[in-house]
Amino acid sequence: MATQEETFKKIVAHCKEYGFVFPSSEIYDGLGAVYDYGQNGVEMKNNIKRYWWEAMTLLHENVVGIDAAIFMHPTTWKASGHVDAFNDPLIDNRDSKKRYRADVLIEDQLGKIEEKINKEVEKARKRFGESFDEAMFRQTNARVLEHQEKWNALHERYSKAMNAMDLDELKQIILDEEIVCPISGTRNWTDVRQFNLMFSTEMGSTADGAMKIYLRPETAQGIFVNYLNVQKTGRMKIPFGIAQIGKAFRNEIVARQFVFRMREFEQMEMQFFIKPGTELEWFEHWKQFRLRWHKALGLGDEKYRFHDHEKLAHYANAATDIEFLMPFGFKEVEGIHSRTNFDLSQHAKYSGKKIEYFDPELNQSYTPYVIETSIGVDRMFLSVMCSAYKEEQLEGGDSRVVLSLPPVLAPVKACVMPLVRKDGLPEKAREIMDDLKFDFHTTYDEKDSIGKRYRRQDAIGTPFCITVDHDTLSDNCVTVRYRDTMEQDRVPLTELKKMIAEAVDMKPLLRSLVK
Ligand code: GAP
Repeated sequence: MATQEETFKKIVAHCKEYGFVFPSSEIYDGLGAVYDYGQNGVEMKNNIKRYWWEAMTLLHENVVGIDAAIFMHPTTWKASGHVDAFNDPLIDNRDSKKRYRADVLIEDQLGKIEEKINKEVEKARKRFGESFDEAMFRQTNARVLEHQEKWNALHERYSKAMNAMDLDELKQIILDEEIVCPISGTRNWTDVRQFNLMFSTEMGSTADGAMKIYLRPETAQGIFVNYLNVQKTGRMKIPFGIAQIGKAFRNEIVARQFVFRMREFEQMEMQFFIKPGTELEWFEHWKQFRLRWHKALGLGDEKYRFHDHEKLAHYANAATDIEFLMPFGFKEVEGIHSRTNFDLSQHAKYSGKKIEYFDPELNQSYTPYVIETSIGVDRMFLSVMCSAYKEEQLEGGDSRVVLSLPPVLAPVKACVMPLVRKDGLPEKAREIMDDLKFDFHTTYDEKDSIGKRYRRQDAIGTPFCITVDHDTLSDNCVTVRYRDTMEQDRVPLTELKKMIAEAVDMKPLLRSLVK
């Protein structure tokens, strides 16, 4: 059995081999934590984005979309707090000249202790077999208790240091724990410093007095600064939401786990503007709706959990993450935050503009409160990919790699194949494909044996393979082979479109969200 780490490596390799994700500018050896989506990746990503966009805007008549620019007036980021506080604590190793996030080094150390505990548990499980009581073992085994105590003490010290952003204490923890640089193996560390995650560039020529501007680190601020525009031109009444999909940029110090932590990534965010005092009710509403959106894809309900934040940002009064079980553990895919009126008030203060809502029912004006839902497209892509990737042993000793993607997200919905490259079969297959292509993303394949062609489609998650054989010319039926079961049916051409539509149509999925 492959370990989770090995499986993850295989998924990354599969993404490259089958045109889902490539390292950016690979011919120049790539660029750290920047990736390009290939011919299949972009289709799947677009399907994810469409599912989100339609669930948020079509299903909610009070949610509208915008597409704001990436460049924004620099004061935006002063007002939002990103210039002063969007920092990570970094530390350098003087020997390897490598830079690390101090918090990640310590979290890795915590992870190592957890690993030791898990090893003890696994050893005992093997020893005791069926009668093994894991909970009891964790509570009573001396070695486990010793490790656990160490973990608790370190975790407490680390949390305190992070909450206070005590950089000296973070360094001291690294020294006390004898954490070494993974490259040089030494403990020759610099002091811990704050590092701002925003990328900056200059706008205008130097002669004109160039202005330092930032590449947005979140799409949310493009929504906040357009609150008045949308509310007025759309005659929106509170409660209402503004949704946006777009690129965001963060100069992540530790970028790893493939598209999980990137320096250029994409977010799907919605800010929902509400009456002050109703925020906890709306927070709960969006929390449940967003979880339903995830679960409706059928990746497995047990792979999701909420992680409520104990420590809240000073402007937030509730926050939770939707975590997904990746091969490297439960990880945040989406954040849902109750942000009070912090952002709008800050923009009002810094711009000098009145940013309020006149509530005709109350006959008074107020600064709306906000519930935010924020999901990373790339993390969503990764969670779908990780749950879809399967290696199967088949009867007769054969094996296959199949992506059991939800059909609505699959990049290609159907592949049309002539059984042989003669006797008019390619022409008939082309005719079928030319008819299907207006409704579904369809491909055509006539190379290699039919078995090889099936495997190629399995590997990119195509739900239907449609084979045209000699009988098709007389009976107008095709052989449809299903990706997951590998079973085959003879289907009349007149039924084909309806059959594919039923499986790949987004409407039933969207309907299931509002039931
Ligand atoms: N506007 C709120 C906000 O940006 P966040 O928790 O920093 O909140 C929201 O980010 C989501 O964006 C995360 O849940 C994650 O899915 C995605 N995300 C954040 N940083 C990322 C990165 N470096 N690479 C890929 N996705 C990222």
